[in-house]
Amino acid sequence: MKTRFFAPLFALLSLTAFAQKSPDLALTPPMGWNSWNTFGTDINEQLVMEIADAFVNLGLRDAGYTYLVLDDGWMAKERDENNQLVPDPEKFPNGIKPVIDYVHAQGLKFGIYNCAGATTCAGYPGSRGFEYQDALQYAKWGVDFLKYDWCDTENLNAKGAYQTMRDALSATGRPILFSICEWGDNDPWKWGEEMGHMWRVTGDIINCWDCKVGHGTWSSLGVWPIIKLRKDIRKYSGPGHWNDFDMMEVGNGMSAAEDRVHFAMWCMLASPLIMGNDLRSASTETIKTLTNPEVIAVNQDKLGIQAYCHSDEGDLEIWAKPLADGEWAFAIVNMSTEEETLNYDWNRHPVKDDLSGRALEAYKKTYEIRDLFNSKNLGSTQKQLSAKIAGHDVLMLRLRPQ
Ligand code: GAL
Repeated sequence: MKTRFFAPLFALLSLTAFAQKSPDLALTPPMGWNSWNTFGTDINEQLVMEIADAFVNLGLRDAGYTYLVLDDGWMAKERDENNQLVPDPEKFPNGIKPVIDYVHAQGLKFGIYNCAGATTCAGYPGSRGFEYQDALQYAKWGVDFLKYDWCDTENLNAKGAYQTMRDALSATGRPILFSICEWGDNDPWKWGEEMGHMWRVTGDIINCWDCKVGHGTWSSLGVWPIIKLRKDIRKYSGPGHWNDFDMMEVGNGMSAAEDRVHFAMWCMLASPLIMGNDLRSASTETIKTLTNPEVIAVNQDKLGIQAYCHSDEGDLEIWAKPLADGEWAFAIVNMSTEEETLNYDWNRHPVKDDLSGRALEAYKKTYEIRDLFNSKNLGSTQKQLSAKIAGHDVLMLRLRPQ
């Protein structure tokens, strides 16, 4: 009798006590594509299928990109009579499930978007008060990734709101990567590891090197303002929980060199690599940058240490990232628009990362140097490294102990 009375209580308690984010997801930074940067709410079934095809045909899937994420605008403006979310019938005339099945059939995973508030940022139904119902719906559809935004959240506590959705996802029993998107407003890096697998660190990105565009209460930031604003939160990022520097703008209008810098830096910072361009019309150059296996390997390094700015030599900024097995990655970025010459004597520049305790002492140990964008060996740290780096371009290196 007693046991019968207490059993449901125990079940409930254990569910709450053991609710956690899906384990073992995102042990390296997630890689994929998101519709927002290029398409906004102008998304539909055909677009998703064509993007899925492009993942396969352009070699993006084989390069490691896995998640195809549909952002805001996929829903009808109202829930149905049972309060279920409904895909917009014009954009998705066959519902969302066949689209997800198609994405899965290409060997990819599917991500969806909603918001912790009552409405999403584009004015569609949000999940506030419907968290468990919506999570269950996503799991039934076969969703693998949820990006969860922060509009219309007056009086909500951020940590609590993300915890509710985390628990709702956990209760479905389906592994679903949880992407926290509250723009860095409530220091998500301080509580995000427990709640999700990645968290946005700023407001929205915009496709420029160094600009800021104001929108009243918030500003979109170019590539460098984002990096500079959040370079100091590196200790919070690591396997299973990443600082998310936002969807990439590679292929969206910057020069090819600037795109290389942007991509190199997202790899160095161990940011999720979520493409934000129209893959169907991407140039060969853009795809070459996005699929460079040696550059991606830096991002996917299993230690997951976010790079730091080691030094600057005039206009050349030198970023360093300790990698597994005693290796290092360096990105030497030309911040000026003119060509610069690098003359770098490794013996005179000991490199020490206080966070990881790792040191590169070229006077004690020799490292082989590899130029990652040009797939070329550049000799060893025994001799001075001399290179010309074009304006707003990058020399990205991998150093391997001999
Ligand atoms: C913003 C978010 C963007 C995009 C947009 C959709 O809050 O930062 O990445 O998701 O909402 O409305």
